[in-house]
Amino acid sequence: MQGSQPFKAFKRNGSQIRISVIGTGYVGLVTGVVFAHLGNQVICIDTNKEKIDMLRAGKIPIYEPGLEDLVLRNAEDGRLSFTTDLGRGIRESEIIFIAVGTPPGDDGEPDLSQVTGAAHQIAQHINGYKVVVNKSTVPIGTGNLVYQIINKNKRQNVNFDVVSNPEFLREGSAMHDTLYPDRIVIGASSHKVAMRLLELYALLERPMLITDITSAEIIKYASNAFLASKISFINSIATLCEKVGGDITQVAKGMGYDKRIGEQFLQAGLGFGGSCFGKDVKALVHTMSKLGCNCNMLNSTLDINQFQPNRFVDRVEDVLGGLDGCNIAVLGLAFKPNTDDMRDAKSIDVIGRLLSGGANVSAYDPIAAENCRSIYPQITYCPDLYQACKDTSAILIVTEWDEFRHLDFERLKALVARRIIFDGRNMLDAGRVSCMGFDYYGIGRNPVILEEEAPLLHAAEAA
Ligand code: UGA
Repeated sequence: MQGSQPFKAFKRNGSQIRISVIGTGYVGLVTGVVFAHLGNQVICIDTNKEKIDMLRAGKIPIYEPGLEDLVLRNAEDGRLSFTTDLGRGIRESEIIFIAVGTPPGDDGEPDLSQVTGAAHQIAQHINGYKVVVNKSTVPIGTGNLVYQIINKNKRQNVNFDVVSNPEFLREGSAMHDTLYPDRIVIGASSHKVAMRLLELYALLERPMLITDITSAEIIKYASNAFLASKISFINSIATLCEKVGGDITQVAKGMGYDKRIGEQFLQAGLGFGGSCFGKDVKALVHTMSKLGCNCNMLNSTLDINQFQPNRFVDRVEDVLGGLDGCNIAVLGLAFKPNTDDMRDAKSIDVIGRLLSGGANVSAYDPIAAENCRSIYPQITYCPDLYQACKDTSAILIVTEWDEFRHLDFERLKALVARRIIFDGRNMLDAGRVSCMGFDYYGIGRNPVILEEEAPLLHAAEAA
């Protein structure tokens, strides 16, 4: 079983709402399961038969702590089912969530074909009043587009409403974020339809904002762009710290105590990855520049982020005196811990640079190695971190998995060719690493270098 967390049982009021969720990706599956957990009758729909068969068999296609447990419990209790029959799902539900993918096109404009496809299907099967809820991250104006498509193509003369209800969950803590969200945003064209959603979310007892559809759509993009900018901001200050000898972890702490700034999303490192921040900032830039708005700030956010892995590998190269022929361990491959998701992972950039410099890479990730193998089949994947570090001249921490916090330095000492750690996520205590006999290089921190850097060549490399 995947890592499970005990989620509280909600006191249900007996009224079951019939819901369908189109799309069983991260957002769709988690949303469906949580609504079932709240006592509703939920049908999760996907065109991918293999995925639906897996889910029916109790197998979860993504890694997300706590998800498997809730899927199994709610399916067993008969509140959650899975189908490829979109028509049935639409006909049998009162509220239909659209949670399909909106992958980025080359120019940053999201591909809306899955959303418009879902709208056409709804138009075909709608058989009574329904509330259609957009949960996918969609460009501003999509709520209106979905309304137009259904209205123009519906086969029966029935009423419906379209609502925007953006999702704010994070991979790796998706269940928690959905059950205990900071806020719930409901963009609706009338108070009456907003109340329907309010009723659905009432059991969570979280702050809710009822607004118009356009504002709700902007809230989603603006939130992700703001968080991404916070990360790029701290990473640009990290560059300054490296130049003048400051410590970015202290700077971020000192800034974060100010409630107006807040401590979260101020961790300097290799930058943001994943399927959301990069894609959403690019989409926002695309929309804003089309409308003639100034996008300098957002473009800088993207530039700084793209530059971080290069800065990191430049430093590795400087310290080692070149990469050619060096054995280098990469610890962590996923774009963040607690997920096997490799989309836009910084490990891709780091490994790419290492390979083009002529290094030999051995890598370890608790769960993302298989997904990385399809990107980099040529590197060595190891079953544990110690094997990955064997005979290496440098250890690079790229994803801050918890298990890297408790490195057995004595064991490592005996394995490595040179004792150097480059901490791309500032997750280790520099002083402790140094006490254990390793040189330490973080991001935006003073390196801690042992006075006598013994060559410590491992027998294999020395030979
Ligand atoms: C992000 C948002 O946090 C969610 O609110 C949003 O719902 C989601 O995108 C989405 O639009 O679907 P997610 O991408 O899953 O969630 O992960 P985050 O925890 O936000 O991390 C994103 C990236 O930023 C990771 O690569 C992480 O390592 C990096 N990061 C995060 C930093 O480099 N520094 C930080 O201080 C925080």
